[in-house]
Amino acid sequence: MKKVGVALLGLGTVGGGTYEILVKNREYFRETLGLDVEVKAVLEKNLDRAKQLGVDLKIVSTDIADVVKNPDISIVAEFFGGIEPARTFLLEALKAGKSIVTANKELFSKHWYELEAAAKQTGAGLYFEASCVGGVPIIRTIEEGMQSNKIEQIKGIINGTTNYILTAMSDEGADYAAALKRAQELGYAEFDPTADVEGFDATYKISILSTLAYHKRVPVEAVKREGISKVDAVDIQIGKELGYTMKLLALSKNVNGKIEARVAPVFVPTSHPLASVKGSFNAVYLHGDSVDDIMLYGRGAGALPTGSAIVSDILFAAKQSEAKRYPYAEKGKSDLKEFDTDFVSKYYIRLKAADEEGTLAKITHVLGKENINIESVLQKKPISSDNAPIVFVTDKTAESNIKKAVEEIKNLGAVKEVDALYRVEE
Ligand code: HSE
Repeated sequence: MKKVGVALLGLGTVGGGTYEILVKNREYFRETLGLDVEVKAVLEKNLDRAKQLGVDLKIVSTDIADVVKNPDISIVAEFFGGIEPARTFLLEALKAGKSIVTANKELFSKHWYELEAAAKQTGAGLYFEASCVGGVPIIRTIEEGMQSNKIEQIKGIINGTTNYILTAMSDEGADYAAALKRAQELGYAEFDPTADVEGFDATYKISILSTLAYHKRVPVEAVKREGISKVDAVDIQIGKELGYTMKLLALSKNVNGKIEARVAPVFVPTSHPLASVKGSFNAVYLHGDSVDDIMLYGRGAGALPTGSAIVSDILFAAKQSEAKRYPYAEKGKSDLKEFDTDFVSKYYIRLKAADEEGTLAKITHVLGKENINIESVLQKKPISSDNAPIVFVTDKTAESNIKKAVEEIKNLGAVKEVDALYRVEE
């Protein structure tokens, strides 16, 4: 029986879930995998929390030296979140030759290069399945299950908080503020919801997933980011009338080596599998050149789902005869200009126009001049003489093209405002 000593840095939600799984399934892992995994050290200030989880207080400390100097520990799992002290502690663990397991997407996406370089020095492993999409085994799917493919596209609902909010806005007609308040009351959204609602969390995850999928560093700074805090419930309802559902998509495409990565509220056809991913659930839709489309679906957060990914990494690490790292350290920094892409997409445009003859003709003239074909158009009953709401869904066009057309439309005297511009993904 192989003995595996583990340290847990932090006993918050996911740290606690991890401890619970390691204790409840210890015998099961012994029987099925021949691995005896034991928690040998825990870093945690809150002794009440440790007691509540049934952790032996003799192994609880606040000093990282108790972890790095303990020869019985081979794997260090980190749950602090944020950059510091997680970065320093993990670097110390790597320098001591211990493999690390982390759910820390911000740290990993921003400091992958540094962590990997440190791991390489001592031959330690880096495992981060839990950093993206919680309990859904997306990293291993990309790295192992899809390795025979050139991955061409990733489309993901990879933030549960925003998916909960958009689902409430879509299914119940709630406005953004009310939906956010409910998400906070239910514990999905943080007191300060910025990281989720402004798309930062999804940006970290798509940076990691795209780097793995395209074998090329896709830094966080290369991911264009737009959150959901400015989404108007009106667009969600009009989108529904047109057969679309709004989702905060983390999207990346590799078109002949040119990579586009972004996080933005986007319309997807209501018939698309991603449209039926509701509430706090996550899903990732991948396109490979051989397998075609696949979709993974599940819980992207929570004590046991994310703990499940952490423990899977611990077991995976313990089974390797040689520690595993995915080789991106050598790639160093990327030139951000490489990601200046101008991909094509359909677009949804909503504007306020004057309620007078010839207005529609003037707008369609601009779109025609820019070679933008209109797929559908919807004019709502005018609310006042200068507020006739009009919505266009265009055919595919380059982003630079639609932006140029929108600027021209804004300058038409008959158009009071362009209220919304969203991509429509197929
Ligand atoms: N806060 C994230 C979410 C989970 O709402 O999905 C952790 O990344």
